[in-house]
Order: sequence, then C-alpha cells, then structure tokens
Amino acid sequence: MGVRFTGWGIAVPERIVTNDELSQTLDTSDEWITERTGIRQRHVGGSAMSLGITAGLEAVKDAGLELSDIDFLVVATTTPDRLCPATAPMIANGMGLTCPAMDVNAACSGFMYAVRTAYGLLETGNKKILVIGTENLSRWVDWTDRNMAVLLGDGAGAAVLEYDPDGSDLLSFYLGADGSAADLLTCEHGGFFEMNGREVFRRAVRVVVDSAEKAMASAGITSSDLSLMIPHQANIRIIQAAAQRLDIDMDKAVITLDRYGNTSSSSIPLAFYDARSNGRIKPGEFALMTGFGAGMTWASAVVRWSR
Ligand code: COA
Repeated sequence: MGVRFTGWGIAVPERIVTNDELSQTLDTSDEWITERTGIRQRHVGGSAMSLGITAGLEAVKDAGLELSDIDFLVVATTTPDRLCPATAPMIANGMGLTCPAMDVNAACSGFMYAVRTAYGLLETGNKKILVIGTENLSRWVDWTDRNMAVLLGDGAGAAVLEYDPDGSDLLSFYLGADGSAADLLTCEHGGFFEMNGREVFRRAVRVVVDSAEKAMASAGITSSDLSLMIPHQANIRIIQAAAQRLDIDMDKAVITLDRYGNTSSSSIPLAFYDARSNGRIKPGEFALMTGFGAGMTWASAVVRWSR
C-alpha cells in the first residue's frame, strides 16, 4: 500500500517578535538567543483554529482537490483552543469540511504522529486525508520567563495524504514515547510551559539519532542516501548534534527556526514548505523527517518524493 503527499499549506501570524524586542522586557539578548538557539524572531498571534484553517485550505487547493474529497481530518496540536471540544472539528467547520475530525497530541512530534495515524487510516479504506499541525504556543508562555519565552512561536502547516496502490512517498516510520520523562517539559492546566532545557536537549539528540537510524534501516537506506533532513525546529544546536552523529551534512538540513522559533507540531510542515519554496524538494530523492517533544515523544520517517 502506498501514500502520496499531494498538497501542502502553511499559516503564520503577521506579528513578528524579534529577539531585540524580547530583550526590552527580559534579561536576555539577541546575541544569547541567536548563539544558544539559532532563533532570531518568532511569529505570534492567531489561534490554533484560525491558523489551522488557513493552512488546511491552502493544502487542499495545492493538492488540486475539492473539500468534499477529504475523507478525514487529523489535527496535531499541543495547544488546542479549548480543552473540549477538540480543535479538529472547529477547523473542519471553518474550512467547510464535513468529514470525521480529531486531534492528536504528541507535542512537537505531533505532525509525524498525525501522519502515522493518517497512514493507518489510509490502510483501512480512507482515500484522502488532511493532516494539520497547528499551534498557538504564545498563549501558554509566561512572557516574563526568559527560559521559555525566547523559544516558542505560533504557526500551522498542513499536508494532504492520498492513497496510491502503485507506490509510496512514505517508506518507513519509527515512533516512540517515554512517559517517565513527562516532567521535563510540561504545561499544567491554567499554567505556562516549563522545561528542564538541558535534560530535554540531551535526550532530544539521543532519540532523534536512534529513531532516525531505525527509520533509515527499515527503509533500507543509509544517511549518505539522504538529500534532505527535515528536523523539528527546536534549537539549531540539537539539529547540528544529531546531524553530526548521523553523519548528515548540515547543508542538507532545512532550517526555519531562525524565522519561526519552535512551533511544535507545525515545525516540520513549515520546514517542508520552506524547502519546497526554495526548490529543495526533488522527485526521487530521499529525505528524513524527524521530531521529538514533550512526553517525551519522538518520530522519524523516511520519504522519497514523487512530485
Ligand atoms: N537569555 C539569557 N541567558 C539565559 C537565558 C536567556 N533566555 N536562558 C538561560 N540563560 C542563562 C542561564 O541562566 C545560565 O546562566 P549561568 O551560566 O549564569 O547559570 C546560562 O544562560 C546557560 O544556561 P543553560 O540552561 O545551560 O543554557 P543552554 O545552553 O542549555 O541553553 C536552552 C538553554 C533552553 C536554549 C537549551 O537547553 C535547549 O534548547 N534545550 C532544549 C529545549 C527544547 O528543545 N525544547 C523543546 C522541546 S520540543
């Protein structure tokens, strides 16, 4: 059975918050944030629903489909607008979709978990699935806390996945979760994001490397076969450390965190979109998508683009 990525869309709020702007109210600096994270600015605003609607509509149009063609909507979000209902039905309603719709929360691995979920749905009879990663992280940031405020941003990215009996863009997956690390990165009800940054960093590199190696082995390739690495955009140093251990040249890594910060489950589709806009997605080439996040969760996939 095969799955094709046939359409993509993104949305980011207009308001840009630069490191210099943050430095006016926090004990931090553009120099520190840029050196330690690679982030220079982030987009802030909107809601998980509004950003998701915009990205989703673009992806369906990009796939050349009608809204009525979509069989299922899977929304990955760490920051649902409400505890209940899920964000997916509200996005579906805003887009004009009438198909089943549900949320997946796997934090920053959310998009890859949602793609994995869509794959399973396509295996069992659905034909066209819209997957959206959408985040309004700024709502859950304590803007007086320099540990978190410098890292996160808002945005959404969407992809249409279609069943194809004749071949697949998705060659392999490797997903994992370790709830014993749950307290390393949390947001309690009514609270804000809090994190043990150093420990998250250490574990992130480990799980990205491990899951990427397993996904590549399962696809029957090695890192030298890759043309592109599309990593979750949390910290440039995490990406560099993982790329080095995987023997992937940093020229192959897509980097968008300088402009968007960490947008959690939106970061991989935002990065894909950026790569495609820059002519870096080429048919027949292998790419590694890899993410990690609170939970902790992690997910890697090997893809070979057909368009
Ligand atoms: N601005 C200025 N200084 C800061 C700062 C900020 N925003 N945040 C921390 N500091 C200070 C610390 O207080 C510390 O000062 P000290 O040496 O006087 O004690 C110093 O900078 C170094 O802190 P440290 O926590 O060791 O920095 P770091 O190099 O580990 O970078 C993170 C901090 C959060 C950027 C980094 O640990 C990280 O990215 N972790 C992973 C986070 C992540 O990926 N989260 C999302 C998961 S999906």
